[in-house]
Amino acid sequence: MKSKIDQGTDPVSCHGLDPEKMPVHVAVIMDGNGRWAKKKLMNRVRGHEKGADTVRSIVTVCRKLNIKVLTLYAFSTENWGRPRAEVTALMALLKKFVTDERQTLMDKNICLGVIGQKERLPGDVGRAVDETIRLTRNNTAMRLNLALSYGGREEMTRAVKQMAEKVAAGSLCLEDISEETVSRHLYTADIPDPDIVIRTSGEKRLSNFMLWQAGYAELFFTDTLWPDFTDRAFMDIIRDYQKRDRRFGKVQCSSNDGSPQ
Ligand code: IPE
Ligand code: IPE
Ligand code: MG
Repeated sequence: MKSKIDQGTDPVSCHGLDPEKMPVHVAVIMDGNGRWAKKKLMNRVRGHEKGADTVRSIVTVCRKLNIKVLTLYAFSTENWGRPRAEVTALMALLKKFVTDERQTLMDKNICLGVIGQKERLPGDVGRAVDETIRLTRNNTAMRLNLALSYGGREEMTRAVKQMAEKVAAGSLCLEDISEETVSRHLYTADIPDPDIVIRTSGEKRLSNFMLWQAGYAELFFTDTLWPDFTDRAFMDIIRDYQKRDRRFGKVQCSSNDGSPQ
């Protein structure tokens, strides 16, 4: 049994969270950096820099809560269409982040993963990302999954092409293509679907994020801009999640992981 002191310092229990009902995979559409900067009469890039501080803090809280996968939507396939200076700044920030965080990821036993068109990243950025993936690959406590040059439609198009190639080559039978087969051809082949998708900044859309995987995710929207998003707000969302009844199309489900009752 835990002592009172243990309970007081355990973030799961001290915030009224049930450790048995923790989501396995939380995904976040980190939005509002530009508006945060604009409100403060700053350059949008300052908003992205401040957003990186929020990333560090949410990674830490997820690790403490024993959440196994945290996916962060950091750059969409559509974001390539932003002004060149902003894209360049975002890429530089990404490189700095994956380089600066190596030690912390090792200390916290977190491995880095990427979903998206990694090959489209500038060479030096791609190499920094790959090196952090390589260094952290044996870490087991949590996966920090960055969605980089990610788009759900591109992901599905790519999966369809891969499956079509296999059918043409005779290594995959048309009749054998199931939902499971499709899932295995997505960037997320080795991770479970998100239990929760959070979007900050008041926008209520998916913006091409995890269109297949979020089929049964619990959605949370907050007006808070990403740079202002706090650990407390994150934990409040987890608490609300624990109260939701996830039915998965069935009639009633008292556990919230979809296991049959
Ligand atoms: C999210 O913030 C970060 C990225 C999309 C890279 P935005 O840059 O979209 O901020 P807003 O939506 O303009 O406020
Ligand atoms: C979604 O935000 C992409 C990321 C958070 C990386 P956007 O700001 O690009 O999306 P829209 O344009 O508001 O739909
Ligand atoms: Mg935005």
